Amino acid sequence: MWLIKNVHVVDPAQDLDAICDVEFDERIRNIIKHNANTQNTLPVDADSPDEHTVSGRKTSEAAPSGNTVQVIDGRGKYLFPGFVDVHAHLREPGREDKEDLASGAQAAARGGFTTVLCMANTQPVIDNRGLVEFVINQGSQAEGARVWPVAAVTKGLKGEELVNMVELHNAGAVAFSDDGRGIQRGQTMLLALQYAQLTGRPIISHCEEDSLAANGSMRRGPQSARLGLTGIPAAAESVMAARDILLAEETAGRLHLAHMSASATVTLLGWAKKQGIDVTGEVNPHHLIFCDEDIGLTDTALKVNPPLPSAADREILIEALANGTIDMLATDHAPHTWEEKAQPFAEAPFGINAFETALSAVWMSLVEPGKLSVSRLVRAWSLNPARRFSLAGGSLSPGTPADVVLFDPSHTRVIGEGTWMSKSTNTPYWGKPMHGFAIATWVGGIKHC
Ligand code: DOR
Ligand code: ZN
Repeated sequence: MWLIKNVHVVDPAQDLDAICDVEFDERIRNIIKHNANTQNTLPVDADSPDEHTVSGRKTSEAAPSGNTVQVIDGRGKYLFPGFVDVHAHLREPGREDKEDLASGAQAAARGGFTTVLCMANTQPVIDNRGLVEFVINQGSQAEGARVWPVAAVTKGLKGEELVNMVELHNAGAVAFSDDGRGIQRGQTMLLALQYAQLTGRPIISHCEEDSLAANGSMRRGPQSARLGLTGIPAAAESVMAARDILLAEETAGRLHLAHMSASATVTLLGWAKKQGIDVTGEVNPHHLIFCDEDIGLTDTALKVNPPLPSAADREILIEALANGTIDMLATDHAPHTWEEKAQPFAEAPFGINAFETALSAVWMSLVEPGKLSVSRLVRAWSLNPARRFSLAGGSLSPGTPADVVLFDPSHTRVIGEGTWMSKSTNTPYWGKPMHGFAIATWVGGIKHC
């Protein structure tokens, strides 16, 4: 049994925002709320040991057995329901040099994630029963976050023939997406939205109209012109988002917009919700923190798809996340090798390695400056994704599996070799000090640091 004492629990599902003692083994057992006048997170007491057991020994990774109670002093720290990341690239099968299911699950847990969804753009593509089962089996053996596969919408991500969604859902796929590519034909998307209803699972749309994106490498605007790089207009995303929203309306299908990066997409999502269309949206930390003006010709770590927004669009994305128009955060963890990212900007692959920096980045850039409340952070990265994708977690309600994050807002790390778990290092934060980290993550009561 674990007992976290005097910790600031933020759990929007229970409307809980208070100093508590929390007891759990593989499930949450008990939450005892302290008096209302102690509700503010206290400063860390430098003299108190971070962790101790009742017998004074340092806590280990193993789950305490029998009647042993391991006590952790939670003063100055937060306890959140585990973060749920609905957008990650774990690269297995095919590019295990960049990441695999085991390293990805570990890196995720280190970053505070207890459940992650991995995308189907592997080699080969996760478009058949065998590979869905493979991901589930490998993922269940990994020591870290729970891993669930998102199966492809079309075979080979070719945008032509639909996969057998019912079969793949029965095998364990929790959503469908051709992420990495937009589905170019409207008719294919219409049928996908229709068939996915047989599974109750959403289609995750990577909105990118190819003729507009036209092999560009950053957002089209003054900065792409200055750098002489081919620009991707914001409309490459928004026109497909508009199409998919109208198709979701037409079919009464369930749609989720991946990595929203343009203000027009925000407007469309807001409109769709008012119409009662079954659509949700996610935004990635990098689209809220960086903008196109931050890009120089050698900054391939900032090359992502969709590309970094204009500064004006970034503000609109932040506001939409804060007011709930955008439902959730997701990392789009996209590991790539150093060699690939060392190429000229136009040739380097898209993607940021994000699991181990995402929470800290959002904490430092949005929560500390008061742009995003702590409770909205937890809602957007735990409760809402768990609900939308019908996943375990999202709350610390007694009786539910103990997927728990102990978060220390003052814990500081220099991002680098010592603590890094991912196989790749393509992060703009490499070598930089950051603070605000998950210092322990429990998945079903098993502790991962
Ligand atoms: O930046 C990205 N990287 N965006 C995507 O859509 C795909 C991903 C990847 O697979 O590397
Ligand atoms: Zn994508």
